[in-house]
Amino acid sequence: MTQSTTIRWEQDRTGLVTLVLDDPAQSANTMNQAFRDSLAVVTDRLEAEKDTIRGIILTSAKKTFFAGGDLRDLIRVTPDTTQELFEGGLAIKRDLRRIETLGKPVVAAMNGAALGGGYELALACHHRIALDTPGTKIGCPEVTLGLLPGGGGIVRTVRLLGIADALLKVLLQGTQYSPQRALKNGLIDEVAATQDELMAKARAFIDANPESRQPWDRPGYRIPGGTPASPGFAANLPAFPANLRKQTNGAPYPAPRSILAAAVEGAQVDFETAQVIEARYFVELAAGQTAKNMIQAFFFDLQAVNSGANRPKGVEPRPVRKVAVLGAGMMGAGIAYSCARAGIDVVLKDVSAQAAARGKNYSEKLCAKAVSRGRTSREKADELLARITPTADPQDVAGCDAVIEAVFEDPALKHKVFQEIQHLVAPDALLCSNTSTLPISALAEGVERQGDFVGLHFFSPVDRMPLVEIIKGERTGQEALARAFDLVRQIRKTPIVVNDSRGFFTSRVIGHFINEGVAMVGEGIEPASVEQAAAQAGYPAKVLSLMDELTLTLPRKIRAESRRAVEEAGGTWQTHPAEAVIDRMVDEFGRTGRSGGGGFYEYGEDGKRAGLWPGLREHFTREGARIPFVDMQERMLFSEALDTVRLVEEGVLTSVADANIGSIFGIGFPGWTGGVLQYINGYEGGLPGFVARSRELAERYGERFAPPALLVEKAAKGEGFGDG
Ligand code: NAI
Repeated sequence: MTQSTTIRWEQDRTGLVTLVLDDPAQSANTMNQAFRDSLAVVTDRLEAEKDTIRGIILTSAKKTFFAGGDLRDLIRVTPDTTQELFEGGLAIKRDLRRIETLGKPVVAAMNGAALGGGYELALACHHRIALDTPGTKIGCPEVTLGLLPGGGGIVRTVRLLGIADALLKVLLQGTQYSPQRALKNGLIDEVAATQDELMAKARAFIDANPESRQPWDRPGYRIPGGTPASPGFAANLPAFPANLRKQTNGAPYPAPRSILAAAVEGAQVDFETAQVIEARYFVELAAGQTAKNMIQAFFFDLQAVNSGANRPKGVEPRPVRKVAVLGAGMMGAGIAYSCARAGIDVVLKDVSAQAAARGKNYSEKLCAKAVSRGRTSREKADELLARITPTADPQDVAGCDAVIEAVFEDPALKHKVFQEIQHLVAPDALLCSNTSTLPISALAEGVERQGDFVGLHFFSPVDRMPLVEIIKGERTGQEALARAFDLVRQIRKTPIVVNDSRGFFTSRVIGHFINEGVAMVGEGIEPASVEQAAAQAGYPAKVLSLMDELTLTLPRKIRAESRRAVEEAGGTWQTHPAEAVIDRMVDEFGRTGRSGGGGFYEYGEDGKRAGLWPGLREHFTREGARIPFVDMQERMLFSEALDTVRLVEEGVLTSVADANIGSIFGIGFPGWTGGVLQYINGYEGGLPGFVARSRELAERYGERFAPPALLVEKAAKGEGFGDG
């Protein structure tokens, strides 16, 4: 290799070398083989021509500075190829180290996002300047993909910021900082408003610092805040793993633990040894299943979903300008806020002016909070609020090009509100219902233009939940589907698309999780260990507390409706063991959940959760009723995964990426699994392993765990979900 293909060398007459990152084969620069080779060539040349060089600026010709590791390569790493990865990583580290210790000033002029490997390149420079644009994000998000920064990121952030700040501000949360916040937190040294200023500041640093050295290469350097060997620090050390447990709830996320270990171990040795330690932990994570799951979901699947792999082709995008939100309750208020935040005018309609005003008040509160936390300005908040018009007058929806209905979950009422406005809105307005359970095709019968009718299922709290489930009814047209997709993207949320069915995908699948937890209480298992099993499986909400939030009356209502539908279709209703527990809770003990004053938990005067209701032990728990902890966790995970497979069989779900993303972002399926179908792919032994374990669970806990035919078939063929 004698040529650099991805790093361009530009040198002026004063001896200033600008290294321009510009991979001709990709839209972004990544740490692929071509980059590794180019870096080696460039480093050799820098050393050889050192005497003619005054300083070095590292910048990029792409929109982003540098994107980091190539995830297509990383997801393919197997135990057999880890040695190659290890050596490749060390080679990059060695080259960066050679540049860092050349004795010439090196400046990172970050003209765009510098995340992961991009920020690691910048860390190896003596001075970091970022262009202050909305797209410039800085940080080490590797942990969110189950990885760690393996390009010297742990070694250098620890030496730059100290162990505690490096871990808390950069490494463990994977925070992506704006340039201003990166500056405030010590990740970078300067910001620049324009490209010219960026380069001018870089040159100015080189002029003023002809012989740069990293702080850690200066005599007498000590890690800020001390190392585990320093007096004072040792006392704090035990708090680290404890905090970590709090962050992951004991769920199987190996990356935070490895990051902590690499930081603490690396702080006690010299720079070079620390680099090797970091590399060892990196390859171990990269070869593991969790990183593969998380890369698949949070990178590839998320990209597929957001880029519209599922959006009907050939429909011209047409941004929504004015939306009518019908019903200003909890959901309507949140939907109004999210639309107004995206610049859409909102007519927020309820039965009375007061109810509508209450709905708008929700946005006022959110805005006040955002202003007080410095996340937005008062002017921007006022502009947002001015876009929301609360009203009780149907005439006000005139000219709306989309409608989102969020009145009570009652089909007759939903029909009535659509009838009231269907001739008042724009003649081709998109008609959406936010129902959480009612079949969309039947609801569509209440409107004249059924082709324009679509389900748009938001999650609570709407302002924070990133997912929207789009439901295609039997008569929903391709254009309506595409417009619904575009509307979800317009309000910066993630759309998944499913076909119509009772409970669609998300509401139906989460019901299995809850039922399984409740059933275990009915089997006499300690409720506290049921909650612990959910937490340790990685669910963000414990199962019984979630039931309390949703209310115990909700599953009864859904059950009654579903049962009627099954029996009307000539089928037999399969009773779930959770039903008896819920019925006793409600009928015998009057415990309907949090809003009813108490359910599986007790609540204080302030509505805050106190402890589990002691009556549970008295009426349900049986001495010695114990099952293996792993069974408790897998009953919850499998119940959701198996029903998702049935939804694929039934044609409700048509995209593996949508299933994975919908399960994580909509209903809290644990992120370490990579989503509900990736969980099956990545299960020990692959699909055959999953089938065998399903059969075992079916034998022990009931036929509901029997593997569906599609799963058995795929296992036999050696296929996974999402292959081909
Ligand atoms: P809510 O009870 O908080 O709000 C319903 C609102 O509709 C009330 O303000 C009520 O005054 C208003 N309303 C009733 N009749 C009306 C009419 N004729 N015209 C205009 N407004 C009218 O209910 P929530 O929780 O906001 O739910 C609304 C819908 O969203 C339901 O279909 C529900 O299934 C669905 N949903 C609820 C979720 C949740 O977590 N609560 C999640 C996803 C969907």
